[in-house]
Amino acid sequence: MVRPGALRTAVLATGAVSLVCFVYLYWTPPSTISTVPTEAFEVPLAERQSVLWEALYPLLQENSPQCPPPERQGDAGAVHYDAVTDSPRPDHIALQASDLAKMRTAHQNFVRAINDSTTMTKTALSSPHTPGTRGIVSTAGGSYLPVFLASLRMLRRSGSTLPVEVYMKDSSEYEASICEEVLPGLDARCLVLADVVGRSAKIEHYQLKIFAVLFSSFEEVVWMDADCFPLYTPETLLESEPFLSTGLVTFPDFWASTASPLYFRISDQPDPPMTLRQASETGAFLVSKKSHFTTLLLAAYYNYYGPTHYFRLLSQGAPGEGDKETFINAASALSQPFYTVSERVQAIGHAKPDGSLSGSAMMQSDPQQDYARTSQDLWRVKNESVTDAPRAFFIHAHYPKFNPAENVFGYKWETTPTLNSDGSLTRAWTAPEKAIQRFGYDAERAYWEEIMWVACNLQEKIQSWSEDEKVCERVQKYWKAVFDNTYTIN
Ligand SMILES: *[C@@H]1O[C@H](CO)[C@@H](O)[C@H](O)[C@H]1NC(C)=O
Ligand SMILES: *[C@@H]1O[C@H](CO)[C@@H](O)[C@H](O)[C@H]1NC(C)=O
Repeated sequence: MVRPGALRTAVLATGAVSLVCFVYLYWTPPSTISTVPTEAFEVPLAERQSVLWEALYPLLQENSPQCPPPERQGDAGAVHYDAVTDSPRPDHIALQASDLAKMRTAHQNFVRAINDSTTMTKTALSSPHTPGTRGIVSTAGGSYLPVFLASLRMLRRSGSTLPVEVYMKDSSEYEASICEEVLPGLDARCLVLADVVGRSAKIEHYQLKIFAVLFSSFEEVVWMDADCFPLYTPETLLESEPFLSTGLVTFPDFWASTASPLYFRISDQPDPPMTLRQASETGAFLVSKKSHFTTLLLAAYYNYYGPTHYFRLLSQGAPGEGDKETFINAASALSQPFYTVSERVQAIGHAKPDGSLSGSAMMQSDPQQDYARTSQDLWRVKNESVTDAPRAFFIHAHYPKFNPAENVFGYKWETTPTLNSDGSLTRAWTAPEKAIQRFGYDAERAYWEEIMWVACNLQEKIQSWSEDEKVCERVQKYWKAVFDNTYTIN
């Protein structure tokens, strides 16, 4: 029995396939065959995502650590990274020998399961990406959405044509007027994570990053936090070293990496010296899901059991404890390659009267230029005089978020980015002068121009601004006073 509807579908499908075949056989495209719509043969993204989740979720559940959370006996705190002189690894966590053995077995079993599953040719545990694609992945929702929009405008301003996927936690964060009317024009689209993981698991905000990367449709991903933007086109980073040979590139945090010795017992690795690498700052990173899919699965395991077990083991209470250390440690546990940018992250802000810095953003360096130095054995992280600094590449404007309806103006935030100590208006980023020069152009002016564009064009569309009619006016006034004395408000 064939239903008429099914028959019609079959006929239409056959028609579509013949059309594609016809195009493919009889029409020779000018340069590449990528003009043939590969999507015509593909399972839809939502389906590929749910196949992955249905395979991954039971593995996460089956391999739970099987013991209570490790006991904290102190905090590593902010440990300065010394690249030259080794020091004892901080050791502030207690775990009974039997619990350590349980965690180690669970870790081994999870690693074996993802390894077995991903080395089989036909398996449910496969990356949902479309081969050959690259793009930007981010998350945004609520008051992060306007901040993301300014970052997205900065991305486009850099000349980047990479498509963008922005993940929202659940449908409450989905803003139709932005997602459907504004983002398509900027080659960005919204995806809702709860649609993928359904009701089987609750994805919390700290887990969004790893799952957004795992579920994205891109093979090569440039991750950007909503408050992080590039100064130059990020596609150049995907086309050069160190990404080409490693497939995973991360940036440093201010501190030493303070993972517990117990973590290295659990993951069967020797304790690395404290000089080996800095902690990670994951406002931006680059990853290939073709080469590092298992790394991301293990990072997902660390995140899934992060709040109870792994976040503490990986940071021991260092500043910003959370998902940031899961990526490099997962790659290391699986002996997969990676490159950690060595040039120190630079705090930028404006000077306080006592000469210290009121820092409101972090500046990360160009991995390509960093690699050019370290591959000649020039390690500025050991001795700053050996060569000049690489150019800046990413700005992570995080403290506070530069949301003109929130803490960026006035005295609402301790770093008062837009105010001098005498209360007069100032640029946010004027110091240290040498660091600001590494921007290569007036990126702060450009950023405020984009913040103003978002404020003045999208004020009525942004949900979290619905009670605030003065967002545009506020930015224009600041712009007039600080960046453009000839600007008139009308
Ligand atoms: C992963 O699988 C390969 C091939 O099946 C095997 O040779 C290798 O030892 C496995 N690695 C781990 C960590 O289980
Ligand atoms: C740092 O590098 C400079 C320039 O190469 C060199 O003169 C100086 O001795 C180095 N300092 C240390 C402590 O190695």
